[in-house]
Amino acid sequence: MKKPVRIAVTGAAGAISSSLLFRVAAGEMFGTDQPVILQLIEMPQAMEQLRGLAMELEDCALPLLHTIRIFDNPEAGFKNAHYAILIGARPRTAGMERIDLLTANAEIFERQGKALSANAARDVKVLVVGNPANTNALIASRNAPDLSPTQFTALTRLDHNRTKGIVANHLGVNAEEVRKVIIWGNHSSTQYPDLHQSKIFGEALVGPQLDDKFYQENLIPRIQNRGSEIINARGHSSAASAAQAIIDHMRDWSMGTAENELVSMAIVSDGSYGVEKGIFYSFPVRCRYGRYQIVTGLEINEFSKKMMKATEAELLEEKASVNHLLPKETEQSHYKLRICLRSGKFLAADGLLDSGDPVLETSRLL
Ligand code: NAD
Ligand code: LMR
Repeated sequence: MKKPVRIAVTGAAGAISSSLLFRVAAGEMFGTDQPVILQLIEMPQAMEQLRGLAMELEDCALPLLHTIRIFDNPEAGFKNAHYAILIGARPRTAGMERIDLLTANAEIFERQGKALSANAARDVKVLVVGNPANTNALIASRNAPDLSPTQFTALTRLDHNRTKGIVANHLGVNAEEVRKVIIWGNHSSTQYPDLHQSKIFGEALVGPQLDDKFYQENLIPRIQNRGSEIINARGHSSAASAAQAIIDHMRDWSMGTAENELVSMAIVSDGSYGVEKGIFYSFPVRCRYGRYQIVTGLEINEFSKKMMKATEAELLEEKASVNHLLPKETEQSHYKLRICLRSGKFLAADGLLDSGDPVLETSRLL
């Protein structure tokens, strides 16, 4: 039997976590041979609710659930965590855009970035879910000087899965057949769901199977606004589908993407596809051996270029509005990504790059 891994989850008593935690404890995220220690973090006023949820987890008698611990602060809750899923934040309600949450939620991620840097395992993998997820990931990462920016990611897998599900339903095929979908940019209504690389049964999707006009004028806005459509219908933002996307994201990151497939993850930009370095932008990636790598060399048409720029512009605006939460000391590490020679530490942060010694360098993300 493997050694248990420590999974810290913030917002643990909330709607998404209530769908997520039982499935993680049942082995759906890291496999049915991987015991888990759950380190559940909530606001002090929600601790009683969290205690109730912990009791329910205990009552499932799940064999992989090694330990449950509950915390009212991130510093203790992140101690030695191998995985950190940052869900705790205010959700939007009808009529709001996700960017409207920036003021309410940004400071949460400043404190959590610092707490991760000081307390988590050196190779912790972090997924930011709380909205606006990309910019919250940037805040957390910039406040974690002793971790690599490549250890932080934000969730766009929900948009990726939505695209596959909606297209599959439209064409009457199994969702698994809709491959190589890409979400570029922000988890917001400017995101660009790109189907130009997608194929079904070996045939291109846009053009032969999906009319260009329908794709651009109907499908793209539908996916961009799916979050609002759900809030309007059920009075609360998506929870079960977000939990599914979190499981998919963490499973693929740690155990690898399926053969002949790519997935979308918001990660720190290394400048690929001309995207400004240092922002958290959703790219097509493949994961192997616990690391992700951007899929490069894809042909990008003029329509795609325009869409990718628009969502980048929004992320740059969001970044400017939280500039006061982005410490200068971590600016360099976010613009010059270097291979990570030892876990959690960067060559740039080690000062090795200035020593004049020959060092192994690469511009690829880990
Ligand atoms: P919820 O209100 O049901 O639960 C949020 C929980 O977080 C609450 O229990 C609250 O007490 C807790 N919390 C708030 N601040 C915290 C902090 N500083 N530390 C620890 N816990 C804290 O909301 P939800 O439906 O679970 O959604 C959570 C967040 O996820 C929202 O911001 C929502 O917009 C976002 N979301 C993102 C995606 C995505 O794809 N990226 C998808 C769905 C929802
Ligand atoms: C979603 O995409 O469903 C979430 O980000 C919640 C929201 O505010 O739309």
